Amino acid sequence: MSALAPPSQRPVKNPRHEYHDPVLVEKVVELLAPTPGRVICDGTLGGGGHSAALLAAGADVIGIDQDPAAIAFATRRLSEWPGKFRAIRGSFANAGELLDQLGVRILDGALLDLGVSSHQLDTPARGFSFQQDGPLDMRLDPDGPITAADLVNTMSGEQLERIFRDYGEENAARRIAVRLVRDRMVRPFETTLELAAAVESVVPRHGRTHPATRVFQALRIAVNRELEALEQGLEQFTLLLARGARFGVITFHSLEDRIVKAFFKQRCAEWLDRPEWPEPRPNPDFSLRLINPKPVEPDAAEQRANPRSRSAKLRVAERIG
Ligand SMILES: C[S@@+](CC[C@H](N)C(=O)[O-])C[C@H]1O[C@@H](n2cnc3c(N)ncnc32)[C@H](O)[C@@H]1O
Repeated sequence: MSALAPPSQRPVKNPRHEYHDPVLVEKVVELLAPTPGRVICDGTLGGGGHSAALLAAGADVIGIDQDPAAIAFATRRLSEWPGKFRAIRGSFANAGELLDQLGVRILDGALLDLGVSSHQLDTPARGFSFQQDGPLDMRLDPDGPITAADLVNTMSGEQLERIFRDYGEENAARRIAVRLVRDRMVRPFETTLELAAAVESVVPRHGRTHPATRVFQALRIAVNRELEALEQGLEQFTLLLARGARFGVITFHSLEDRIVKAFFKQRCAEWLDRPEWPEPRPNPDFSLRLINPKPVEPDAAEQRANPRSRSAKLRVAERIG
């Protein structure tokens, strides 16, 4: 973000890193083996931290992000690798189409580092934060069709309850939904702090986690259709990988991790078996081999240095056949 950006568009606190502290960088480089000449797609470019490490190891990198601010920042940051780094704006759910526009039809590696960057989280104008006031937006793509305010002010109580329960695993989903529907009849929700206060009036504060954490996560997932995009992205990248190419995915909550784990498991099974079948059958989707059966997590030092890394899990698989 430029120094001339209005105050509400400047990140309020981000003391350790200008844009975003990438997690598990050394592990990503070790497991994706980005040797010279290999073309790796960073499907969640963000501030370009992982891309920088992959470039420094010799690979060519294509960065995808749906946020133009991320594309602009990373393009500036990675300008010291002309010809080796290219960026394209869009959703990784459409990776095949986006890469095709660059004439790239096969990859030697791919990375997804899911969720939001610290810059997005700490910029009040983006509406992700329940700590600082901003418009109730939460779009990763600022041109996206739906904001969090649209959902909170127009969905039925049942729909809101389902979102909070399914995407936030929020125990008080029903009570929060009832409260929001009641409050919005007086005045529609417009800002993040209005929403955070309404949630807090239903779920009082206990411990260090803000009571609105799960509701904010749920709305962000719904606004950006994050789980659908993840499922599509996993399919797309698996199709694009050359034999022996590696695919790393970093997740930050159990819903994402469950999807990645199930996808890799399904693609890594050579045979399928069902009780109603007389014998196992070959799996037509068999296309990956797991590199790390257990997800890699940041060590204590990284978790201390970068608290947002605490929930990170890296799973890596390799294309076969
Ligand atoms: C955790 S940050 C990535 C940080 C990055 N690895 C780095 O080192 O700076 C996640 C990024 O992915 C982007 N993103 C999330 N979902 C996306 C999607 N479906 N398509 C493209 N970009 C997406 C977000 O806009 C954000 O910039």
